[in-house]
Amino acid sequence: MTDQLTDVTRVLPSPRSLFARLPRRSAPALDLPPAEPEPLASLEARDISAWFGDHQVLDRVSLTMPAGVITSLIGPSGCGKSTFLRILNRMHELVPSASLAGEVLIDGQDIYNADRKLVEARKSIGMVFQKPNPFPAMSIYDNVLAGLKLTGTHADRDQRDFLVESCLTKAGLWKEVKDRLRAPGGGLSGGQQQRLCIARSLAVTPRVLLMDEPCSALDPTSTRVIEETMLELVNDVTIVIVTHNMQQAQRVSTQCAFFLAAQGTPGAIVEHGDTEAMFSEPIDARTFDYVNGRFG
Ligand SMILES: Nc1ncnc2c1ncn2[C@@H]1O[C@H](COP(=O)(O)OP(=O)(O)OP(=O)(O)O)[C@@H](O)[C@H]1O
Ligand SMILES: [Mg+2]
Repeated sequence: MTDQLTDVTRVLPSPRSLFARLPRRSAPALDLPPAEPEPLASLEARDISAWFGDHQVLDRVSLTMPAGVITSLIGPSGCGKSTFLRILNRMHELVPSASLAGEVLIDGQDIYNADRKLVEARKSIGMVFQKPNPFPAMSIYDNVLAGLKLTGTHADRDQRDFLVESCLTKAGLWKEVKDRLRAPGGGLSGGQQQRLCIARSLAVTPRVLLMDEPCSALDPTSTRVIEETMLELVNDVTIVIVTHNMQQAQRVSTQCAFFLAAQGTPGAIVEHGDTEAMFSEPIDARTFDYVNGRFG
């Protein structure tokens, strides 16, 4: 996490772009002129193959993840969903033995293009992990701003307060923590910690949010709150979620992709499309069996 935050430091937006996308109703007096919010971004993976050493784990996976939509990735354990997700924001290359082929385009621009900085991809394509990972001893307030602090981006007190409130509100946590912003992040419940991590991701204004089983460690109530949060957030940020929970995929996602790695072969997408159709009338018999709990 420290590495990610350190990376982010070099590419954080200027205060102008940082605050441009926040609601203006209670904006503190900023000297900056209002800027247009960035349009929603689409993400496209083209022919992605991936290896760990000689072991190929994905084979020519292509998927378009439309702007302003939640796409869910489903499939049995080990079929390459997390690997695919990590390739979408250049985290796969952190593993020394890892390699890949193919392209990932955000609004048509390849994030792996030699001219594009790694840190740009990580900044515009944020990630929330399975296990909530706030800085436990750091206050809730400072956790939200952690990415900014490391950048040396200067925001005055009012601006920081506004950003913290705005991000916590978007993450669906503000009402629960507004009276204890100085309490440590580690003192929150698991579900609250996960929403704090979402708020921290939002503070650096990503255009895409990747979520790898974000609710798998949470109780049903917290899960529900995160799902509601995602449905709100998708108005501002394109979301890709990995989930083993078939009901969750149906509740939150508009589009769904089913990954499978047949015995001894790399993972690939068997079928993708409209979530409702995938669950009610899948085309492939393997999709039918999986979504009906017959394996995996
Ligand atoms: N760091 C790594 N080094 C070597 N092999 C790895 C590494 N990470 C994943 N793999 C292998 O890549 C394959 C795909 O793993 P991945 O974690 O992407 O699957 P997954 O679909 O996310 O599974 P799960 O549902 O259990 O999270 C597996 O065979 C796994 O063993
Ligand atoms: Mg995984």
